[in-house]
Amino acid sequence: MNVRQGSLEDGARTTRPHEHVHKDTGSTHTDTQSRVPPSRVRSRKLGYMDAYIKRVVLFVQQHLGDDRTGHDVAHAYRVVQLALRIIELMPEVEAARVNRRLVQCAAWVHDVIDPKVAVDVQATETELRAFLETLDFTEAEVDEIFFIITHMSFSKNIESRVPLSLNGQIVQDADRLDAIGVIGVARALYYGGAHGDVLYDPAVAPRVLADESEYREPGTVINHFYEKLFQLKDLLNTDAARQIGEKRDLKMHSFVDDFRAEWEGSDVTDA
Ligand code: ADP
Ligand code: NI
Repeated sequence: MNVRQGSLEDGARTTRPHEHVHKDTGSTHTDTQSRVPPSRVRSRKLGYMDAYIKRVVLFVQQHLGDDRTGHDVAHAYRVVQLALRIIELMPEVEAARVNRRLVQCAAWVHDVIDPKVAVDVQATETELRAFLETLDFTEAEVDEIFFIITHMSFSKNIESRVPLSLNGQIVQDADRLDAIGVIGVARALYYGGAHGDVLYDPAVAPRVLADESEYREPGTVINHFYEKLFQLKDLLNTDAARQIGEKRDLKMHSFVDDFRAEWEGSDVTDA
């Protein structure tokens, strides 16, 4: 994975200093984000981070390790960074309602149980649930993480939109932001290559997708922009993500406009 050294430290800093009382004293915890002491460890590739985050990253690496279709660990990493950025950009009163630790963890694991990634979805779900329980999330928090990651994808929301908690809206926005902009362009080209799809065919019109199975039928890479990627900025939940999304959407439109102009040779003007 090609992430810069120490880059997780920003994420780790968003976890509040731990104020928790040890379990053996019998006291209860008041703050869900402080349940795990953020003891710092160092990873050769990722720099210093909270020990529990390192465990999450290792779990995700084991499951997404060799994915080449756009669901690799680097994608999960970017979604985490975007989610934290969205929280930073939120008004304070709204950000105070966010469970950062839950958001961060959901963002890391969001693709692990995706049927395109997991060989055995049910077994992976069982494994993920057991793993999250070892991180000291409450049952309600584990349920929320599962609800988020099983309902947030574009394909699950084609027929009707599934309402998500604020935590879920942030993770969904972050995942969608990573599908647009220049990285979105790169991922679409990469996905098309990995699946042997045609790059562009002016004779094939973009489809209006009615359900998830139609979404999975092969089309052209350029049509994917019209069928999905150009819609994403209007599907974002939070104002913070919309700010980022507007900019990324413009870059993506400019790529497709330039692509089509070069295809037709209309970028060459008569001197
Ligand atoms: P979701 O998690 O919403 O179901 P996908 O798994 O379908 O999203 O998409 C993962 C990445 O692959 C995204 O960046 C997406 O734009 C890209 N992608 C998905 N389908 C295609 C396609 N038919 N052509 C090009 N890129 C695609
Ligand atoms: Ni994703």
